Amino acid sequence: MLIVANWKAYVEDGAKAKKLFATSKKLKSTHRSDIVLAPPGPLLGMLAMNNKSSVAFAAQDVSSTTGGAKTGEVLASVYANVGATYSIVGHSERRAMGDTNTTITEKLSHALAHGLIPILCIGEHTRDSEGKYLSFIREELTTALEPLAPKDRTKIIIAYEPLWAIGKTATAAIVPADLAEMVSYIRKVLGELLSGKASARSLVLYGGSVEPENAFLLAKDSGINGFLVGHASVDVSAFSALIKNLG
Ligand code: PGA
Repeated sequence: MLIVANWKAYVEDGAKAKKLFATSKKLKSTHRSDIVLAPPGPLLGMLAMNNKSSVAFAAQDVSSTTGGAKTGEVLASVYANVGATYSIVGHSERRAMGDTNTTITEKLSHALAHGLIPILCIGEHTRDSEGKYLSFIREELTTALEPLAPKDRTKIIIAYEPLWAIGKTATAAIVPADLAEMVSYIRKVLGELLSGKASARSLVLYGGSVEPENAFLLAKDSGINGFLVGHASVDVSAFSALIKNLG
């Protein structure tokens, strides 16, 4: 399992960041999951710069620009230069702050151009009984991936994060049977955008109230390759329990 810890804007100081990093290194040495930390930018630089461990790092976002006179923007190349391996792109919280299909495609291209593996977030706002949420997911995947070269499409990790399940508790998250259905639907759509063999190799993650209580059951039999974990990833004991529960 690939566990991406999305620290969002929850972690503010270096001491807390160092503690979470040390905990992750220990967990990685004794458990099977691969751990990727996505701290706020400056903290990522602090931790990842001389990282020799097998815990990897992800940017939470990258700029859609290519640099120059763009105050406040952080380029994909900067994250790559300070030691990030991945970048989250198109998180619903970034989409709510202005990311569009166009900027998301630009961000994916910049991340790929600088060797970062993009983790593309998709997810419906609500569920309806006519299955409109399925067309919504198809649309999000297609508009993001279609402009990319076929070989680049194969490098992208998909994080399925239904908005209705984000930032709640385990009881409000998706149930395992519905997750299994979504994973096979996403793989079906990926099969249309990628060659058959490549889509079978794509990694699909789930995010939205993954906690120690539901991680194991969500992982079991759903076909998921890992999780994007928000609030439970910045609590040392919850994150430790979550990784331990996955074996
Ligand atoms: P959550 O966040 O685990 O707090 O629901 C997940 C995410 O938004 O990536």
